[in-house]
Amino acid sequence: MEKTICLLPGDGIGPEILDQGALVMDAAVKKNGHTFHYTKGLIGGAAIDATGSSLPEETIAACKASDAVFLAAVGGPKWDNLAPEKRPERGLLAIRRELGLFANLRPAMLLPELAGACLLRPDIAQKGLDLIVVRELTGDIYFGEPRGLEKQDGSRVGFNTMIYSEEEIVRIAHVAFKTARQRRRKVCSVDKSNVLETSRLWKEVVTEVHKEYADVELSHLYVDNAAMQLVRDPSQFDVILTGNIFGDILSDEASVITGSLGMLPSASMGAQGPGLFEPVHGSAPDIAGQDKANPLATILSAAMLLRLGLHMPEEAAMIEKAVDKTLADGYRTGDIMEAGKKAVGCQEMGKLVVERL
Ligand code: IPM
Ligand code: MG
Repeated sequence: MEKTICLLPGDGIGPEILDQGALVMDAAVKKNGHTFHYTKGLIGGAAIDATGSSLPEETIAACKASDAVFLAAVGGPKWDNLAPEKRPERGLLAIRRELGLFANLRPAMLLPELAGACLLRPDIAQKGLDLIVVRELTGDIYFGEPRGLEKQDGSRVGFNTMIYSEEEIVRIAHVAFKTARQRRRKVCSVDKSNVLETSRLWKEVVTEVHKEYADVELSHLYVDNAAMQLVRDPSQFDVILTGNIFGDILSDEASVITGSLGMLPSASMGAQGPGLFEPVHGSAPDIAGQDKANPLATILSAAMLLRLGLHMPEEAAMIEKAVDKTLADGYRTGDIMEAGKKAVGCQEMGKLVVERL
């Protein structure tokens, strides 16, 4: 098979972790006789510095011409004082919109090898944590109009619009129910329907779509309760289905309680065209360029790219197994270091995974 992957290194530790992700991916597919071609695009702060825009037209074109987009991370203190519409993050939102990536899949789990890192009480952690947040990614208050910051009667007001159409809810609900069918067949839909009309529609539509999935169990939680349940007993969750803003918050919560944010991959998919695959963590500017970053979330994002983006489950599993083996052999980057383990840098970690493919 021949495929073209568009690489978007972004900012901070982005370039170094993406190098390792691409190396591992390339080694895995070569082993099975496939040839991948790579293009590169600027996004985020790096793009702002070079072109003035956080998502240049050339990057959009390169992404659209590819079979999958492999992104590392955007943002950093250098651009923190820019207005929201000029910030690196805007590039990320724009590429999601441009590629129609409405479904964001964010798994969070406790890897047996790293169970000690979990931030929860041992008796809670022991019950297990293996869930996936299915977050709607191109609607909600993130994109709703009108939005603005202006003066009204001499006083400043800021406003955004929380809005979902029936169609937007239907398509993400299907993704969640189908995802559940590959797992433990449980979907918990999260909303704030005790207060918000948007959420009332959300709950109604999800309930309607569920009629096509009688084999999947559906429950509903208000977002405040869901945030609480996630730390009280995350083992109750399989698939969490929610909108853009609630999903942003809950997916950070779900991933950080595992204690190994540096391990978690994500996928963003549209109805057709290339998907985008990236680690859940950010650009960690404090350790950028020091070969200290953990490349494993990026390497595992390569596995998601292969499985979900290119339907290459065998190569995806090769990468996941090689990562497990590397951890089992005791290698750790600083963020997941424990007494008695072997400390390695970013490049070394990538190399160790390649050797175990
Ligand atoms: C994420 C991030 C982005 C979001 C930011 C960087 C725009 O927090 O991917 O979760 O809010 O979606
Ligand atoms: Mg976020």
